[in-house]
Amino acid sequence: MALPENFIYELKQNNPIDSLVSSYTTLKRSGHNQVCLCPFHSEKSPSCTIYNDTQSFYCFGCGAGGDVITFAMKIENLSYIEAVKFLADRAGMQMPDEAKNNDSSRIKARILEINRVAARFFHDVLTKYPEGEKGRRYFRERQLTNATIVKYGLGYAPDDWHKLHYYMNSKGYSDEELVIANLCLRSRNGGVFDAFRDRVIFPIIDLRGNVTAFGGRIIDGSGPKYLNSSDTPVFKKSRSLFSLNFAKKSDEKRLILAEGYMDVISINQAGFDNVVATLGTALTSEQARLMKQYADEVIIAYDSDGPGQAATHKAINLLSDAGAVTKIIKMEGAKDPDEYIKKFGAMRFKQLIDRSDGALDFEIRKCAVGLDLETEQDKSTYLRRCVKMLAGISSPLDRELYISKIAKETDVSRETLAQQINGLIKKNINAAEKNSKQEIETFAALRRKNPESVAHPKEFKAEKGIIAYLAANPDGLKYIESRISPDCFVTDFNKRLYEKMTEKIKSESYYDIMSLQSEFSADEMGKITEIIVNSKGIDINRLALDDYIAILNEYKDRDDNVGDLSNDDFLQYVDKMKKLK
Ligand code: CTP
Ligand code: MN
Repeated sequence: MALPENFIYELKQNNPIDSLVSSYTTLKRSGHNQVCLCPFHSEKSPSCTIYNDTQSFYCFGCGAGGDVITFAMKIENLSYIEAVKFLADRAGMQMPDEAKNNDSSRIKARILEINRVAARFFHDVLTKYPEGEKGRRYFRERQLTNATIVKYGLGYAPDDWHKLHYYMNSKGYSDEELVIANLCLRSRNGGVFDAFRDRVIFPIIDLRGNVTAFGGRIIDGSGPKYLNSSDTPVFKKSRSLFSLNFAKKSDEKRLILAEGYMDVISINQAGFDNVVATLGTALTSEQARLMKQYADEVIIAYDSDGPGQAATHKAINLLSDAGAVTKIIKMEGAKDPDEYIKKFGAMRFKQLIDRSDGALDFEIRKCAVGLDLETEQDKSTYLRRCVKMLAGISSPLDRELYISKIAKETDVSRETLAQQINGLIKKNINAAEKNSKQEIETFAALRRKNPESVAHPKEFKAEKGIIAYLAANPDGLKYIESRISPDCFVTDFNKRLYEKMTEKIKSESYYDIMSLQSEFSADEMGKITEIIVNSKGIDINRLALDDYIAILNEYKDRDDNVGDLSNDDFLQYVDKMKKLK
């Protein structure tokens, strides 16, 4: 699908790359550029750079790179055309007509329609049909009001292998579509049957109000307690949050994070509309960043049992990494918020929220677990744990505060504590620097695996030089073309890149190398950006260009270039490359 170049040009003008990136991660200025923790791999020190002059990004850690469209594709998991649409929406631009319909968006629209019809079916069964009685009784016992059932569009899937299946068929939806939507499963003999049977249904609704997936809870009998749709073209579990569609409209500046569907619904019914939950998996960094977009503070209200507390610890880290302030609810006398509200009421739950501890208090209390602070031995263990924990806190102010607190509590001088902590921080920083260097090297080694480039390092470098020159001087095409042909390129990728550039420059639709976007995958855009980024600051003049051209011509004129390197030579090259790094 070709979009008019001037449309893409305007789209990029209206979506400066730093404004998009900064809505996912925090940018720090670094000279002319900005840097951030790479949102595409996990790291502790920033190796992703945003270049405002070329409106591109490149991560030296994982090799992700490209322009604002590539970034949107990768971070939102979109196809090229969807990313363009996403950015157009973001900038309030109209899509050109011919782009509105393509295959992948047609399939998505179809699945969303299927989900909506199915959700309506489950809801009608629950609220109107005789076979819905079992579901009605279940929700009554769990004290959900009719208003809540309607608000969340809850439903019931009958105890039948084909109820939904045949109903959907009668509405014109094919078996194959039902399987893609994850509502039906295919049996070994090829037939299909309902995925949700005899379960109450929780539709999952995205921020635009689309039903993207379903969760189903067992009522009795055997099988897993919850069934959740797996990922489909319209649903990615790791970046969805249950009830965010309501929470984002809340006036509250903070979000409550609960563990399960029923907790969320109970909390919401009790009058707190700012509550969300993950969908049967541990919190991911994507979800943490998503939450940070809607609130600066997150109150974690996980179950009070062991797994709930372990999950709390992980969530604190992810949310702090995303830049959110975290607080933790201390629940006593109930295993989860749902039970707590039923036992003690909404008012008491409100008090819990207002009195929720800062994440640090939670961590400090954890340091004391299992210890008797009256004994010298345990006290010293406690102090050691506290020092270790506080050394991991990035805010000096917070650190100060807690040093005072612990010093008072244990009767140890503040100076001694601070000294210990600072020593450990220094050690950690050194280790982190070493790690991040290693991290970069591993990734770089992985990228270098491209055997063509390893076998022909000199030519590979020459190709990249020519491409970088051409990117900066499209007028130089005539000169280059008169001296080499695309066939002189040794590595396939660079050859294809060179050909595409030539094509674009000739058709006069070239304005920068990033306009090749529609021709290359997001991963390939990473490689292209790498070439440009690495050539930054190096003056590739005509002389250098002539050298590069000569290298490629020389290679072509060699008669033995077909057989390439022997195994031994190849290994030698690999060794040499390793030493170069
Ligand atoms: N979960 C799941 N699969 C399971 C058990 C749990 O996907 N077999 C997920 C569900 O999203 C569930 C959450 O983990 O909502 C929390 O589990 P749990 O506390 O057991 O469920 P509740 O939501 O509290 O549901 P209920 O009160 O009905 O037991
Ligand atoms: Mn529960």
